[in-house]
Amino acid sequence: MERNQWVSSLTALLLCLIFVVASEASDWSILNQGGGKRKLGYSLKNYCESWRMNVEMNNIRDFEIVPGECVDYVGKYMTSTQYKVDVERAFEACRLYLSDAFEPRGDGGDAWVFDIDDTLLSTAPFYKKHQFGGEKLNRTALEGWMKEAKAPAVVHALDLYNEIKNRGLKIFLISCRGESLREATIENLVKVGFTGWKGLEMRGLEDAEKGAQEFKAEQRKMLIKKGYRIWGVVGDQWSTLLGLPSGKRIFKLPNSLYYMA
Ligand SMILES: *[C@@H]1O[C@H](CO)[C@@H](O)[C@H](O)[C@H]1NC(C)=O
Repeated sequence: MERNQWVSSLTALLLCLIFVVASEASDWSILNQGGGKRKLGYSLKNYCESWRMNVEMNNIRDFEIVPGECVDYVGKYMTSTQYKVDVERAFEACRLYLSDAFEPRGDGGDAWVFDIDDTLLSTAPFYKKHQFGGEKLNRTALEGWMKEAKAPAVVHALDLYNEIKNRGLKIFLISCRGESLREATIENLVKVGFTGWKGLEMRGLEDAEKGAQEFKAEQRKMLIKKGYRIWGVVGDQWSTLLGLPSGKRIFKLPNSLYYMA
């Protein structure tokens, strides 16, 4: 080996080493805020729990991917007993609200709105194969997975769905899934037990440019114009719940896998 070649190989090796050390350091930079001098008195788990909590509170918005250091944490949470208990608690609040406040008019105008993904059907099996939100969403891959119509029901969702239906409320499903997924979506819903909804609103071509929040608020507006009273809206994304007109009550389910604006 010529001397020049040897020197450039050594330089490349050194640069590699510096890069590895620097990226290790930057992985932990969030825990070393304050110039790295102040040791934060909490763990990575504390940090990730706080990240997740602030996603739920809609303080942290528009994240494209789950931060790399929290991927394990989010994956564990979304497949944990705690997640199931949290969802059950939210559904319990729906039940309590209905038994306290629901006054059926008996005119067929009482309505309830559900989102579909991660409210009735779980996308967790898809995200499990994609680093639990730790990699940028590939919409083609997600829609391909949805077309297979094999999403499981969100835990306890079917019980609540049936209870609401049996109270005589008309159920409307408002989803950001595109119309091209209608057949697969119906197949999937029926396969896991969801039947007897009054309306299934999906995004058509004319809605392609609209954000989720705008699209969903428009759909609710149309329901109200037709004379429906929306008693409640359940969703895992704030874009399902915010925007006017709303329901009399909104219920947020946990989801820190992705953010849909
Ligand atoms: C997205 O997913 C599709 C279908 O699985 C695949 O063909 C394509 O290469 C993926 N694109 C990227 C950028 O990974």
